[in-house]
Order: sequence, then C-alpha cells, then structure tokens
Amino acid sequence: MRLICCAAKKQGMSNAVRVSHTAPVTFDRVASEYERTRPLPDKIGESVARYIVSLLNKREWMLDAGCGTGRFTRPLARRHDRVVGADVSREMIARLREEHAPFREPLLVRADLRDLPFPDAQFSIVLTVHVLHLIAEWQTAFAEMWRVLEGDGCLLLGYEDRSVSAVRDFYLTEGRQRGLLPAAPGTRDTQGVLIPFAQEKFGVTQIEEVSLPAWRWKTTTPVSQLLTDLDARLYSSQWGIAGDAHEQLMERTRQNVRNIFGAGYETAHETITTRFVLVVLRKPDPDPATG
Ligand SMILES: C[S@@+](CC[C@H](N)C(=O)[O-])C[C@H]1O[C@@H](n2cnc3c(N)ncnc32)[C@H](O)[C@@H]1O
Repeated sequence: MRLICCAAKKQGMSNAVRVSHTAPVTFDRVASEYERTRPLPDKIGESVARYIVSLLNKREWMLDAGCGTGRFTRPLARRHDRVVGADVSREMIARLREEHAPFREPLLVRADLRDLPFPDAQFSIVLTVHVLHLIAEWQTAFAEMWRVLEGDGCLLLGYEDRSVSAVRDFYLTEGRQRGLLPAAPGTRDTQGVLIPFAQEKFGVTQIEEVSLPAWRWKTTTPVSQLLTDLDARLYSSQWGIAGDAHEQLMERTRQNVRNIFGAGYETAHETITTRFVLVVLRKPDPDPATG
C-alpha cells in the first residue's frame, strides 16, 4: 500500500503525464459545467457507493479510473478511506477537490489510464465510468486497469442507460447518420466489445450485471437549457465537429424540438429516465490457495 501512496503522491505533484499515445481527450474545458449537464442525484451516487464499498474490506484499496469531478469518487471516499481517483484533467480534479472540501480527501492522481503510475495488483476494485469511449487505445487503458487489479479483484464498468432525448440524442444521431460527427475515438459498447475483449484477452468468466431498483431516476430540464448546452458544445461527442456542420445540426434539432414540443418549446421541459448499470468483471485468481 505504501507503494500506492508514493506513486500517487509523486504523480499528483508532478505536472507531467507520462504519455506517448494520441493526445488525451481531457475535460478541462467543461469542468465547471460537467455535473450540471450529467446530473446524478446524490441518493443514487450514495447508493452506488454503498454497493461498491460492500465489496471491499476496510484495508483494501480501490481506484476510480477517469474519476472526473468525482461524481462517484466523492461518495466512495466518504464511506471508505482507501480510495484513489485518477484523471488526466487538471481542471476536473481541481473541481473534485473543491466539491469534496469538507471531507478528508481521497488520493488524487493526475494520470493517463494508458500508463497508470501504480505497481501491479494494488487495487481490489477498479471502477471506470464513461471513459473508455474517449480513448483511442482503449485496449491499452483496459490492460492497465487490469494490471493494477489484484487477482480475485473486480473491474467495474459503469454506465448510464438513458431514455432518448429529442434534443441531445436527435443532434447526435443526425450528426452520425449524416457523417457530420466524428466517431468516438474509443468504445462505449460494453456488451458487444468490452466484455468479449475481457473474455478473450484475460480469460474472464465471472461476469455480473448489477442495476439495483434504486439506481433509476428522472431528470427534468428546460428544453431551452438543453439547446443552449448543445449549442455551447458541452458534450465530448461534439468537440470534433466543424462550425458549419454544427450550425446545420442545431437548426435541424430546433426544428425537431418545435415539431415535438410545439411553438411554445422555449418554456417546455424534457424528462429523461436513467438507470445506472455496473458490469462486474472478476479477475481470475492466479493462485487461489494463497488468497
Ligand atoms: C465523461 S467523464 C467521466 C468522469 C466520471 N467517471 C463520471 O462518471 O462522472 C470522462 C473523464 O475521463 C477523463 N479522461 C479522458 N481520457 C483519459 C485518459 N486517457 N486518462 C485518464 N483520464 C481520461 C476526462 O478528463 C474526464 O474527466
């Protein structure tokens, strides 16, 4: 454990991120807006954290890989002392610190998931939520998270399964269908890509999908706010789009919104239903007798 602390402290104080891959997609530019546009009610974060902590004993360490502003790191660190958050974005980590300020801080490390600054087999749990779609070399990041996980530990792949938005999803679907939006560099396909990868590459056999009834919620947002956020390109899928293509998609989205919500769409609200899902992949224990 001393090794984790040393590596984390060293890396946390250093400005250098040891990367020789493509430039990472950091969220520096949206750090202040991130949690408003990806709302996670406190009680859901608390319930997810309770579940994850129930998989750990007091002495075990866990890593939130690509922790961002700490939507999950914060409730985790309030319940468990040995939580490390790693993210490539300085601004997201700074935000996490501010939000978590009244509590004892988890260990926070500025690091790239493709080159984690931790020795092998240090963590009993590695959690990652909404990160692998951002990383072109997602296989490398996956292998790194697997490397730092101990035998019989669990890699938790988390995602939010949302109902379709007439604003955001319309824009994204139209953009993809018309070839205006670049594809995500990595993959968000847990069932079709990530699980088969874990099975083939790492011999994973124990896989469980967990989504408790309490992990469902509704978010109601003014349509005008959704349009403003989309126009401000607050979503990572929009960051590579050309200006004129963006204008074209915004126009089509406004038209769609008018069709659905009518002329008074400026005062309408959209309600989205979300459920949080954790896919739990257990790492085979190389030597179960010593476990
Ligand atoms: C969509 S946010 C998810 C944050 C958090 N897991 C959550 O669910 O709120 C993606 C995060 O991944 C980070 N990220 C992207 N590429 C990364 C990389 N190669 N290494 C580490 N972090 C990365 C971004 O800076 C950002 O904070």
